Amino acid sequence: MAATSIPAKPIIKIAALSGSLRKGSFNTGLLRSAIELSKNSIEGIEIEYVDISPLPFLNTDLEVQGTYPPAVEAFRKKIQEADSILFASPEYNFSVTPPLKNALDWGSRPPNVWGDKTAAIVSAGGGFGGGRSHYHLRQIGVFLDIHFINKPEFYLNAFQPPAKFDAEGNLVDEATKEKLKEVLLALKAFTLRLKS
Ligand SMILES: Cc1cc2nc3c(=O)[nH]c(=O)nc-3n(C[C@H](O)[C@H](O)[C@H](O)COP(=O)(O)O)c2cc1C
Repeated sequence: MAATSIPAKPIIKIAALSGSLRKGSFNTGLLRSAIELSKNSIEGIEIEYVDISPLPFLNTDLEVQGTYPPAVEAFRKKIQEADSILFASPEYNFSVTPPLKNALDWGSRPPNVWGDKTAAIVSAGGGFGGGRSHYHLRQIGVFLDIHFINKPEFYLNAFQPPAKFDAEGNLVDEATKEKLKEVLLALKAFTLRLKS
């Protein structure tokens, strides 16, 4: 009798982008924690950190006959290969940070690599935890055809005691890790719904 093969469960590929280039960035720390959660306590997702710091400042003079500089091509390929995006970013002056906007803009050049991706936003910052930038990012996502989960919202005041991060920017607060896990589970469920 022929052996029946069990179909492999789909793995959702998530590209993780930080809007902060700082070495000890809290937001990049959130992404490291998300990667750890994806490996140890959530089945069916795979998160890869995609560094946006090598991207040049957007200048369409750098585009030659529809091709882009090598760092931009490599970045666009990573986004193209992903099902979903996890954005972690502080707000700068109540809005998205320049490096993140730059990455969004490079990805929007033809063909737009963001189209039909699902996404979630997490942030750490001052008083409102970077939350005010979420709506600007969502607005940009309207034109780019990014489908964001609405809830749970995640914005973390990084400076309010007890300490949420250690000196290297690693997330050390267990309650916050639980909230981050809820975001990842919601993103997984939403992505599976859109893909089916
Ligand atoms: C140019 C600039 C503008 C900022 N504007 C805001 C702001 O509007 N709201 C806020 O909560 N924090 C603001 N901050 C503080 C950042 O949220 C804080 O430095 C945060 O730790 C940065 O995130 P990171 O640790 O991931 O680098 C600003 C910081 C910079 C450098």
